[in-house]
Amino acid sequence: MDHIRILTTGRGIASRTVTNDDLSKVVDTSDDWIYPRTGIHSRQICGEGESVCTLAEEAVGKALEKGKTRFGIREEDIGCVVGATISGATATPSLSCLVQQALHLPEQIPVLDVNAACSGFVYALEVARGLLCANGKRYGLVFGAEALSRLLDWQDRTTCILFADGAGAALIERVPEKEVPYGSFLAARGGTEIVCGGVNTEDPHIRMDGKAVFRFAVTVIPVAAEGALSLAGVPADAISHVICHQANARILGHVMRKSTIPREKFFQNISTAGNTSAASIPSALAQMEEEGLLKEGDLLLLVGFGSGLTYAGMVIGYGRKEAEDEKAE
Ligand code: ACO
Repeated sequence: MDHIRILTTGRGIASRTVTNDDLSKVVDTSDDWIYPRTGIHSRQICGEGESVCTLAEEAVGKALEKGKTRFGIREEDIGCVVGATISGATATPSLSCLVQQALHLPEQIPVLDVNAACSGFVYALEVARGLLCANGKRYGLVFGAEALSRLLDWQDRTTCILFADGAGAALIERVPEKEVPYGSFLAARGGTEIVCGGVNTEDPHIRMDGKAVFRFAVTVIPVAAEGALSLAGVPADAISHVICHQANARILGHVMRKSTIPREKFFQNISTAGNTSAASIPSALAQMEEEGLLKEGDLLLLVGFGSGLTYAGMVIGYGRKEAEDEKAE
């Protein structure tokens, strides 16, 4: 089966900045409590006129624009659109279909959303690979987008301090196996440690057993990472950057201390992004691309974990190595 790689990325940033001090005016909390336990100083949430749809359109639109400029890829070249979200504006149409409509993407391609919470973007990449291998098209658009502020109980200080809004997207390319390593390790352990909505509870808000989630995360992150490396057949030192779901700096700190991969290879933006669930990995990638941290030919290790409970690891290439080699010549 062919592999995929990421060619370009884009992100949509919600415009309203909410600091820990702002939250302390709404619930009984403080920066002194939040920052040491989570690593979060501030987060972005949707402002006037913004929604999960506008954020997703912005992120996907930017990834596509860069694809046009850098690689000459056009709308009609796109072979699938796969979105990851738990906070789509409507149960149906899917968020992906709304993005397809807004960006005038082709009609005769599969377009769908995936619900795997914070592992959603990694799941969506693997789903997109399967779809491209099946329909023979070369390019796909994959995104994660969330407006979690809509699903929060703003009186619940155990959750409203953690979650935020945002979107990130990647333009991917299907390539022959030999061209670039790829490994995708997807897993789930059914459980209700993090829930949101549903007919059984009649509670529309995100609720979470924080301690259980912490234990789950630190256990499964190494499993997902090692699983992906093993499936890709590459050693850990081949990885240029590790992008973990930005859930909580303490979880990441714990994982980094135990990992053989050097700390400086772990990207972190939780302090200003908060936890944006399915959007966290792709928007981190887009931020890295904007900051010039990604080089053509880099090998990335993505790790997601979250509600479901789901977890997922992926080794995936960024850019066309050939493009970097040409630049160097
Ligand atoms: N401000 C002040 N006090 C608070 C707050 C707050 N925001 N939240 C809870 N407290 C209080 C509690 O009421 C409790 O008080 P008590 O001892 O008088 O009862 C005390 O602080 C300790 O509460 P705990 O829930 O035990 O706090 P804990 O040390 O476990 O930290 C946290 C909570 C930060 C959520 C931690 O459990 C954690 O990091 N869990 C991982 C959660 C996570 O990252 N989830 C997202 C990943 S999954 C996904 O992305 C969907």
